[in-house]
Amino acid sequence: MQNFHYNIPTQIYFGKGQIENLGKKLKEISDKVLLVYGGGSIKKNGLYDKVLNQLEQAGISWQELSGVEPNPRIESVRKGVALCKEHGLGAVLAVGGGSTIDCAKVIASGSCYEGDPWEQVLDSDKITKALPVVSVLTLSATGSEMDGFAVISDLEKNEKWGTGNDITKPAFSILDPEYTFTVSPRQTAAGTADIMSHTFENYFTREKGAYLQARFCEGILKTCIHYAPIAIEKPNDYEARANLMWASSMAINGVCSYGENTAWAVHPMEHELSAFYDITHGVGLAILTPYWMEYVLNDDTVWRFAEYGKNVWGIFDGDNMAIAKKSIEKTREFFAAVGLPASLHEIGIDDTHFDVMAKKAADCGLQYGFIPLDKEDVKKIFCMAL
Ligand code: NZQ
Ligand code: ZN
Repeated sequence: MQNFHYNIPTQIYFGKGQIENLGKKLKEISDKVLLVYGGGSIKKNGLYDKVLNQLEQAGISWQELSGVEPNPRIESVRKGVALCKEHGLGAVLAVGGGSTIDCAKVIASGSCYEGDPWEQVLDSDKITKALPVVSVLTLSATGSEMDGFAVISDLEKNEKWGTGNDITKPAFSILDPEYTFTVSPRQTAAGTADIMSHTFENYFTREKGAYLQARFCEGILKTCIHYAPIAIEKPNDYEARANLMWASSMAINGVCSYGENTAWAVHPMEHELSAFYDITHGVGLAILTPYWMEYVLNDDTVWRFAEYGKNVWGIFDGDNMAIAKKSIEKTREFFAAVGLPASLHEIGIDDTHFDVMAKKAADCGLQYGFIPLDKEDVKKIFCMAL
């Protein structure tokens, strides 16, 4: 196990009714905030009114930025930064899924920056100061509620990049699983694929000494596999929603990656799909993951796939290679069972942009991955997924 610095400063208020802490805790940070949300789901399910009630009761004034897009755009970030600067706001409150929280994070850093916030998306070293971010999570997927990352798109340029650092980790997040009851079956499945992908990115590492972290990962994967079908079948099942919600946070907050060198592979590839085709992040991950697994499985990596097969899927028949192959098949079957597509053509993607997409993805450090990948490797994986 490698050295690490544990740093997860985000306070979590988890469970039913935790919204009651919002006004009081936020007031300790600022009494003038920017409220950021998406396309209206929080108005339909009543959360918007609850949030406003909290702000009013605590004597907090606010400005609003609504309409943050899935795959949030830099244009929305710029609007939020302008509001914060114009009104001298002291915190950014995100109510929504990962897109809303990500947008809020770069608004928070952009508000403390002289230049254009896109510069901070391209270079996280330019994030040296940020307004405090607070989140009320409504979709279990990205883990943005408990990490420092933010992924922002400029779709005019077909660009989608991750940024952020410790400064943009939320000060606190409210995680009430009941707020995810209204998440559609498709978004529930896509969110689960995202949680699983974060876990895979941390699990498929060359570090053999991080035994504990690997067992954490297996627990998260088993949780997703057990509870996603229940949440899809019974959207109001509290235990299913609660377990998925906590899995969302734990998959990416550092607990699974401390002590090992991780270099994510499937995420940079998926971000290119989203950058060019504006698709749902988790859908792209579900398509690419089994193909990436097949591509990187070899005699050197089979040990980890065999652990995955035995500890997550309970497969014990045959040698390690047979177990590994079976585990990949199980992964593919699971994504299909929760209703996710299995190929790029099903979501309207062909090979038109594969060369440029593969180059951009490969340049995101894929040479340091579980198996080093270059542009040609990535292109082959895209082609396999067609
Ligand atoms: O916009 P509204 O109306 O709120 O509707 C959203 C949106 O249409 C809807 N939704 C959210 N909560 C709901 C709900 N509908 C009904 N009931 C609710 N309770 O779901 C749709 C998708 O929302 P979005 O926030 O886009 O989804 P998600 O949380 O999956 O976020 C995806 C974004 O996060 C990035 C992705 O690349 C993508 O841009 N990621 C962020 C990461 C991070 N910050 O660490 C890591 C991830 O790997 C990922 O890249
Ligand atoms: Zn992700």
